[in-house]
Amino acid sequence: MVNPEPPIAPGWSVVTGANRGIGLEFTRQLLMHSGSVAACCRKPAEAEALHVLKNQYKERLVLLPLDLSSEESIRGCAAGVAELPGGVALLLHNAGMFARGEAGMESFDPEEMRRVFATNLIGPLTLTRELHSAISRGGKVFFLTSRTGVLRRLQGEPPEAGQFSYPCSKAAVHRSVPVLAGKLYPDGIVVGGIDPGWVRTDMTSGAERGDRFLLEPAESVAGMLTVMDRADLRTSGTLWRWNGDVSRWYAPEETAAERQEVTE
Ligand SMILES: NC(=O)c1ccc[n+]([C@@H]2O[C@H](COP(=O)([O-])OP(=O)(O)OC[C@H]3O[C@@H](n4cnc5c(N)ncnc54)[C@H](OP(=O)(O)O)[C@@H]3O)[C@@H](O)[C@H]2O)c1
Repeated sequence: MVNPEPPIAPGWSVVTGANRGIGLEFTRQLLMHSGSVAACCRKPAEAEALHVLKNQYKERLVLLPLDLSSEESIRGCAAGVAELPGGVALLLHNAGMFARGEAGMESFDPEEMRRVFATNLIGPLTLTRELHSAISRGGKVFFLTSRTGVLRRLQGEPPEAGQFSYPCSKAAVHRSVPVLAGKLYPDGIVVGGIDPGWVRTDMTSGAERGDRFLLEPAESVAGMLTVMDRADLRTSGTLWRWNGDVSRWYAPEETAAERQEVTE
């Protein structure tokens, strides 16, 4: 059910982690479809692919420094966005990180887990707070989620996956989506989470598995933009998949059987 025509986003789209992977592809496609993009990344001066796009799209692309693990950097980025004419139409929390070398409990490192939560959860929520007043009524805030953040063991998955901090942080992102949707509802701001699928980027390099489908960023992003375009206040708080399906782990109306399952 992927719409081949990605939406034309009016106003500014703020994309985090815009220098590579899925974030770069979001930036590219939003620009291609007449959007204006504030592309945020840790080292804009070194973001070669963004400079190529800047030469092409000129004033429709602005590069801003953002390190999500630093509150000071988040405030600086928000100040830069506030200077842009017109409001923010889309805040896209794309940036994310894995923990390094997290295998068993012996290798669990609280500092690394703090870094992962800062980047994947706390930073994005802080940036949302800082940009709140700049987001237009009817604007949208989307978080990139992951199937690794499910609260149940997935069928067919081994009981122990190598990563710990990353899935826990994404599970917390899942929970943040409906909570934030409730908080921003009175302002007419739509919130959603979206799972990009299993996409070929630096994050997944070396993790290819024969039994899982690896999408190209262009296909995943085209699907996600269509989903975001269609999302409205009635569906605010939903966790989506890149192709428009609702995530299997999103339970808008919990059944009695599921409630029972939770209390067991
Ligand atoms: N690829 C997949 O199959 C997949 C599946 C499920 C979910 N996701 C999610 O999709 C999003 C994009 O993933 P991807 O595959 O494109 O990953 P990626 O290629 O590894 O890119 C990650 C991006 O996040 C940025 N980033 C990391 N830490 C940051 C920080 N502290 N502050 C600001 N930016 C930071 C990186 O910037 P630097 O270049 O400076 O490091 C980079 O731009 C992530 O949230 C990821 O969890 C991806």
